[in-house]
Amino acid sequence: MVINEDTVKALLAAAAPLIELAITEDIGIGDATSEAIVPVDKQLTGRFIAKQRGTVAGLPVVEALLKKVDPRLEFEACVEEGSPVEPGELIATATGPGRALLSAERAALNFLQRLSGIATLTKVFVDAVATTDTVILDTRKTLPGFRVLDKYAVRAGGGVNHRMGLYDMFLVKDNHIDAAGGPTPAALAAREARPDLALEIEVRNLDELEQALKLEPPPDRILLDNMDLDTLRKAVLHVGGQIPLEASGGVTIDNVAAIAATGVDAISVGELTHSASALDISMKTAATAVTMQSLIQEAQRLKSELDGRIAILGHHYQRDEVIELADFRGDSLGLARDATATDAEFIVFCGVHFMAETAAILAKPGQHVLLPDLEAGCYLAETVNTQSVDKTWQSLEKVLGNVEEQVLPVTYVNSSAELKSFCGRHGGIICTSGNAEAILRWAFEQRPKVLFFPDQHLGQNISRRLGVADEQMLVWDVQRPPDAEEIKAASVLLWPGACNVHRRFRENHIVMMRQRHPGIQIIVHPECCVEVVTLADDVGSTAHIIRRIDEAPPGTTWAVGTEARLVHRLQHRYPDKTVIPLADIPPYCSTMSQITLDKLVYLLDQVNRGKLHNEVVVDSKVSHWGRIALQRMLEQS
Ligand code: 13P
Ligand code: SF4
Repeated sequence: MVINEDTVKALLAAAAPLIELAITEDIGIGDATSEAIVPVDKQLTGRFIAKQRGTVAGLPVVEALLKKVDPRLEFEACVEEGSPVEPGELIATATGPGRALLSAERAALNFLQRLSGIATLTKVFVDAVATTDTVILDTRKTLPGFRVLDKYAVRAGGGVNHRMGLYDMFLVKDNHIDAAGGPTPAALAAREARPDLALEIEVRNLDELEQALKLEPPPDRILLDNMDLDTLRKAVLHVGGQIPLEASGGVTIDNVAAIAATGVDAISVGELTHSASALDISMKTAATAVTMQSLIQEAQRLKSELDGRIAILGHHYQRDEVIELADFRGDSLGLARDATATDAEFIVFCGVHFMAETAAILAKPGQHVLLPDLEAGCYLAETVNTQSVDKTWQSLEKVLGNVEEQVLPVTYVNSSAELKSFCGRHGGIICTSGNAEAILRWAFEQRPKVLFFPDQHLGQNISRRLGVADEQMLVWDVQRPPDAEEIKAASVLLWPGACNVHRRFRENHIVMMRQRHPGIQIIVHPECCVEVVTLADDVGSTAHIIRRIDEAPPGTTWAVGTEARLVHRLQHRYPDKTVIPLADIPPYCSTMSQITLDKLVYLLDQVNRGKLHNEVVVDSKVSHWGRIALQRMLEQS
């Protein structure tokens, strides 16, 4: 996470007394064990290692704590705040006097594990609502003394902070309303006392909502307390977007997606800070740990032993150490082309599952496609499945009569092989972000309507560019499919899927960027929502973004709205230009991050031993129709 200086300053100011307290309570008058056993001049390096998958937060606090214990301790973060980590991944190192390091270990881990636990849980909630506009808010249910730290960790996980305390916003609850004799006098008293503060009012039912709506001036936000889904839906419909609505009370990971689907703007979740489990992280001083350098050497050795028999394909969102080993780097379109061009016996795909499946569909007889982690999926691809698309197709047939002549199915490449096959069978086609415009233009030449899945935003952005009016686009609500008239009137039927990475960019990021850096150019990926794309200066696929920055004159400043690893790589590659992530907390694709160097080395080692490890195989019938759809795409772009 790009934490600006002010954020770190505020974090460390709040952490300072807690660090003092932690050192006093744990080390006290001295660490008896370390002082007895570790020689005074012994230097050690401690390696902070993730033992669970999660999201990291709290590294600046760890550094400050180590320095407080002994200023000679040198700390180096190996990952960024807010980044995803895999079990076994090195998070940071600390080197210096061994006694001090061992004395500080527990206190340092306590901070890091707590804050990373909150960031990890927040990310789970944020992901659960990522196909909607709803944001996840924290509450004041923080550990006493940890308010600033806990809320910082929520931001690292992609959440948004509610008020900091009772002092920076009005939240008028039932007790206040009773004390004032009704919502109107309560709100008036608040406004009169502090006109500078935002005012939120809590309502428990639709009657109270009605009263809150009559307040003059209107509240800045209304909190819908403990309402069931039906009431929430009615409230959203009734308010009609006039005032932001927050749902609160009884929110769990099992119901949060359904609450978001009611259309509320925000959901506050106490659990984020009052019940997050610590992320399991350890610190090891043993010198036996495998270093990154030795893994890189091992990977290179294995590659050269397989000499020409393997081709490693790497997507731009991969980790640096992984993409460095790739024979072909590219975006999904480029890699699909590369997959058809190579004659290597083994195609090792460093990307996510749908990309490896695409390569498997395009592979020549005898070629094997291997994925270092078969669980590395894609959030967006998983927002759609064959059954629901089949059902949608049947509904369209019922309404239109001749769906095969009326509607062309187009799937974004971020989808399963079965859905690519569906498109092949029904005369449809596949697109990537790099060719979506050409493909959709072709699609409209074939049939009057397009069913586009799974990314509603890519579909909407590109259709707009081709001149389709928003009124002609219909987002398909799977729970409540549109009626016949709506279907007949639409030109583009959009699946309600979205990418959890690109949905994290919001209009306010662009507004803030332009305020902070006048003259900055904003470039975003078309998986961002239409509001973000409309405000940006340019939009395009991963390859387009790279090309634009590459061709930009030195001295120019760019904010980039796409996956964090690519943006960081661009920052390093073009030191003569300023390249910054569009969001202060740039989102990582955590599934792309699942491809680690040690998994790649293990896979190469297995291949070297003659074993096919993690082969991605596509059923021959699925592959047949999938290939037809993919070939249509390659011919059109
Ligand atoms: P590209 O087509 O730009 O590589 O995008 C693939 C992807 O998954 C973006 O999130
Ligand atoms: Fe899927 Fe989004 Fe990751 Fe791309 S960035 S692979 S669309 S989850």
